[in-house]
Amino acid sequence: MNNFIFENATKVFFGKGCVKEYLCCLTKGYGDTVMLAYGGGSIKRNGVYDEVTAILKAAGKNIVEFPGIMANPTYTKVLEGARLAKENNVGLILGIGGGSVMDCCKAVSIAARYQGDVWADFWARPGIFDFDPLPLGVIVTVAGTGSECNGGAVITNEELKIKTGRDYPKCNPRFALLDPTYTYSVPKFQMVSGGFDILSHIMEIYFSEPDEDNVSDDIAEALMRNVIRNLRVAVKNPEDYTARSNLMWDATMAENRIIKLGKRTDFQCHQMEHQLGAYTDCNHGAGLAVLHPVYYRHIYKEGLAKFKKFAENVWGISAEGKTDEEIARAGINALEDFILEIGLPVNLRELGVDENTDLKAIADSCTIVSGSYKKLTHEEILGIFKECFN
Ligand code: NZQ
Ligand code: ZN
Repeated sequence: MNNFIFENATKVFFGKGCVKEYLCCLTKGYGDTVMLAYGGGSIKRNGVYDEVTAILKAAGKNIVEFPGIMANPTYTKVLEGARLAKENNVGLILGIGGGSVMDCCKAVSIAARYQGDVWADFWARPGIFDFDPLPLGVIVTVAGTGSECNGGAVITNEELKIKTGRDYPKCNPRFALLDPTYTYSVPKFQMVSGGFDILSHIMEIYFSEPDEDNVSDDIAEALMRNVIRNLRVAVKNPEDYTARSNLMWDATMAENRIIKLGKRTDFQCHQMEHQLGAYTDCNHGAGLAVLHPVYYRHIYKEGLAKFKKFAENVWGISAEGKTDEEIARAGINALEDFILEIGLPVNLRELGVDENTDLKAIADSCTIVSGSYKKLTHEEILGIFKECFN
């Protein structure tokens, strides 16, 4: 395994009823004013807003609302939140939602305490902290990104057409409340999109060196099997508590840095999806579903032994009578079949991407990572995007 340092500063409260039980005491020590940050209104429809505001009011907090955080949050929205936080002397941001809300809140927590150009100094390049970001706590309402337990924040700069993320440990939420019943109301498409995002994170870590026996890969295989099994159950019965609990914790486990320990990690597919999102505003998990099988068919020969292991240990493909390449390809086919089975798109047309989209501009703006089994060129990335229209 490669050398590593591990820290995760987020305290997690997991399980049915955790908000009611712990939120009040968790908000102590952060002043009188809480900024309540959320998305387009699902929390008002499913009762979470009423539950949380009642707890905050009973705790004597002033509530400053920061609603309307969109999927694929923009830098403009970040600056709006930072202005609100500064004007109202906010002591704690409480983000309620999925990755978009949590990521936007992390960026707000920096922007509210920083005088300079936040995009230039923290997203265009790695930032330097000589200050503490505004404290953040989160209540997760959809399983997927794992943003609740890392410092990652993926933000879209609409003007520059760049969607990019940075992971700053200083932005880890102080606390994360995970009640699986809060995810019952997530529409099916968003649920499977989040589920695939979990699987994608695990694969992006698993398919990278080192490949000799290591505990991170073993955990990754168990997690992948768990996601596949429980997503199938949740598709049939969205209110299966066991399935929703597993998916919620799978999401956190995939992105709380634990299975990254000792690994280089890949994340080329994420880089491609982020730029596709910057140009088309596509759904994150669905974009990944389109890209992954095509990307893997492009690189599997360079990581043949690992793709073979994936086929056998994750999808239960029998090796009997097959060459290594046939086994590896059967694993990628099984992944694609699963994408179809759960109802995610398998090409860019189904994802809603216009045929006239400037794929070359998207490909040219993708970051090329060093952890992939095959270091891609921008031409190869363009080829992958084009293939995703077939
Ligand atoms: O906005 P509302 O009305 O709340 O509706 C949301 C939104 O439309 C809905 N939703 C959430 N919880 C719900 C619910 N609807 C009904 N009931 C509930 N309980 O779900 C929709 C999507 O929400 P969003 O937060 O956008 O989804 P997700 O969690 O997939 O986040 C995607 C964003 O996170 C970034 C992605 O790039 C994208 O911008 N990522 C963040 C990462 C990180 N910080 O570690 C890693 C990921 O790889 C990813 O890049
Ligand atoms: Zn993701």
